[in-house]
Amino acid sequence: MSDKYLDLVNSGLTKKIAGALGLPRPVRLRRQGEGGDPVPLAGTVVVLGEGAEADAVAQVLLQWDLDVRRSAPPTGQVHGIVLVLTGAHAPADVRATVLGAGRLLRSLAPHGRVVTVSRDPGPSEVAEAATQAGVEGFLRSLAKEMRGGATANGIVLGPDTGVGAPSFAAALHFLLSVRSAFVAGQFLTVTSDRGAAPADRTRPLAGRVAAVTGAARGIGASIARVLARDGAHVIGIDVPAAGEHLARVMNEIGGTALQLDITAAGAGAKIAGLARARHGRLDIMVHNAGVVRDKLLANMTSAQWDQVVAVNIEAPLRINDDLAKEADLAPEGLRIVSLASTSGIAGNRGQTNYAFTKAAAIGMTTAAAGGAAEAGGTINAVAPGFIETDMTASMPLLTRQVARRLNSLQQGGMPIDVAEAVAFFAAPDSGGINGQTLRVCGQNLVGR
Ligand code: NAI
Repeated sequence: MSDKYLDLVNSGLTKKIAGALGLPRPVRLRRQGEGGDPVPLAGTVVVLGEGAEADAVAQVLLQWDLDVRRSAPPTGQVHGIVLVLTGAHAPADVRATVLGAGRLLRSLAPHGRVVTVSRDPGPSEVAEAATQAGVEGFLRSLAKEMRGGATANGIVLGPDTGVGAPSFAAALHFLLSVRSAFVAGQFLTVTSDRGAAPADRTRPLAGRVAAVTGAARGIGASIARVLARDGAHVIGIDVPAAGEHLARVMNEIGGTALQLDITAAGAGAKIAGLARARHGRLDIMVHNAGVVRDKLLANMTSAQWDQVVAVNIEAPLRINDDLAKEADLAPEGLRIVSLASTSGIAGNRGQTNYAFTKAAAIGMTTAAAGGAAEAGGTINAVAPGFIETDMTASMPLLTRQVARRLNSLQQGGMPIDVAEAVAFFAAPDSGGINGQTLRVCGQNLVGR
């Protein structure tokens, strides 16, 4: 689905007219591409903040061959600004760093990145807890001031982690790269020191096997392609009615098609059985299949409620239980990623059934995180906002146009934006990021 308005405001005369009329002027975001070569991090990144932890962040960046500075360069554009605020114990301690970043913002290149690094101090002095919590409001506001496809996001270090954790580097790389094009105003928390950098950063999932439900089209097909691009063998799952589309996607990426209704009894055992027979392992489980049956609650039939609940939450719960019984299939721990939705966070008129299931997916993620970690794995969720797919193409024209503009990037996201976030959670170095829900919504105005 193409966004005609985005095309118009990025071409010659209409761009000027839109500017003169004060209309939104979204910028076409830079992305890696489902089959494309990895786009390396490049350019100048300035690390602001005092102390050893800021120096250590600069060291992390140096391993990626960036031009890393500890203060503003005298001339030229900067491509990234990293604000290290972990040492702030009182409100006055953030002042120099945030105002320094403010002075640098005019030099930030189009599609540039700002990343804050703060800390969840755990039980601590009230002033320190207040100061670290303040970073959230600062970052979410700054993200709304970004222009030209630039974004601002944050990394929170859990009480027991530091910038030496492999998942800190993973989160920093993701948030500085084009892979996070549609992630804005969000935080990733590094919960442990688990995870290890992949041997080959261009194919981080080499040797891994991933199952993706709903892989015949839309976001699921994109997830399948991106996981394959990153080196994984993909088992794509979809209903028999979508068999032809599924076969096409799997042929394209050298994956395996499994025609299966995930609501059927024993679906988890079937997925595990195929993975065991073909590959002897299953490392990644992506719960992407989802359906909508929108109706106001007063008009909703029991079938409309039941279908949405069965596909969107009962099936993932059951499949997770089935896979937990086959833990030997995931020698390095199973990575589970579920698709939630901003509707599950903020609620949406006409979607009581859908929002119930998407909030439940977030609840499942939080509740299952401890058990997943005990088994050496992780469980996380991705909550997309407005994404250009068949699902959103069926919205009425005006509603669709308005929905697209209601975020800081003033456009809909692409399926690949969601797929990149899923691939990030599945990567070996994200093993210390667990129980989280990352919004991929361009900082949609709804909810937090
Ligand atoms: P889509 O409708 O284009 O594709 C969903 C796929 O799931 C289809 O191929 C369908 O055949 C498959 N599927 C449905 N029921 C199934 C079952 N019982 N067993 C196996 N496969 C089944 O949806 P889209 O837009 O790609 O969404 C993917 C996920 O992302 C869903 O969970 C959706 O709720 C979520 N999402 C989408 C957003 C959007 O803007 N498109 C926004 C927020 C969340």
